[in-house]
Amino acid sequence: MILAAVMCALTGLAPVTSAQETPEANAQGRVRVAPASEPPQQAVIARGQLAFTQNCAFCHGADAHGGAEGGVDLTLSTIVMSDPTAAQLATFLKVGRPPRMPSFTNLTDAQVSDIAAFVRSKAPPARGAGLREAKVEIVGDPIAGQQFFNGEGKCDTCHSATGDLKGIGAKYSVSTLQGRIVLPRGTGLYPGISFGSQPNVPPDLPRTVTVREPNGKITSGKLVSISDFDVTLRDTNGVHHTFDRNGDVPIVVVKDPLQAHLDLLPKLTNKEMHDLTAYLVTLK
Ligand code: HEC
Ligand code: HEC
Repeated sequence: MILAAVMCALTGLAPVTSAQETPEANAQGRVRVAPASEPPQQAVIARGQLAFTQNCAFCHGADAHGGAEGGVDLTLSTIVMSDPTAAQLATFLKVGRPPRMPSFTNLTDAQVSDIAAFVRSKAPPARGAGLREAKVEIVGDPIAGQQFFNGEGKCDTCHSATGDLKGIGAKYSVSTLQGRIVLPRGTGLYPGISFGSQPNVPPDLPRTVTVREPNGKITSGKLVSISDFDVTLRDTNGVHHTFDRNGDVPIVVVKDPLQAHLDLLPKLTNKEMHDLTAYLVTLK
């Protein structure tokens, strides 16, 4: 299903091993370019965040601090936090802890390592001391980002650098900005990404849902919650309706105003993501 498709696509992301030199950008004094020898930790964390969002966030919370489905706070887990190599986590994920914690045999060691880096980046400083990740750096090329924004990326069909996104570079931290390019959903569970206490983040645009029962009755409204077993919506009168789900019955269609961004999740390469970030940071 969707998870599997996204997973495969994520696996296909080109690994970023060295930062691109961008002399033009440097000359304008806008971006700091990481030395080529230094692995861009920001890219590792961002990749880990994507993999975590798709595989773990539903239960462990978007920021790894624990979720509604009973997943524990992973920044407190010695399996993740005490082993800088992520080997322990890789071993653990192969078996999981049935019945509540599933096994993940489809994740590569590289993905597990990215996930571990992301979880560690979410640990409060005191606990994460020694394992804290480097401060997020801008490693992309703003000019390539601008071209992608107005070209292949088609971002300009919905956004404008002088309109809705004006000033976004001053509004967010670099990591928040990068996160919101990928998925602008500040709170909420799967497939959301949380950015901790970011007072600037606007409220999430609600998803809508239409439920068609076997007798043809159609009910629609704002999506409140959905699982394999039931779906709850709020209609225009503010009344909540909950339906049991059994496979394809009733027929449930969820519409997401951020669909363009969900579609972007598996497609955006690391380079495009970093170039876009470098570009949007300049919109002050
Ligand atoms: C379906 C929900 C669910 C999903 C999805 C899930 N987990 Fe879990 N996970 C749990 C639950 C529940 C526990 C606690 C299990 C227990 O102790 O019985 C747990 C426990 C863990 C632990 C052990 C914590 C400790 O130190 O005791 C780790 C590590 C972990 N999960 C990592 C992950 C990672 C990484 C992913 C994504 C690749 C993931 N989990 C996906 C539900 C989930
Ligand atoms: C089909 C329309 C559509 C396309 C295409 C699209 N977006 Fe978005 N984008 C949205 C919507 C809708 C939101 C949510 C706005 C809100 O929450 O008010 C959003 C939000 C964002 C935000 C967060 C804005 C904020 O203030 O926090 C960023 C950043 C962003 N998009 C970047 C991009 C980039 C970069 C691209 C191209 C790769 C892109 N978007 C393509 C519809 C789109």
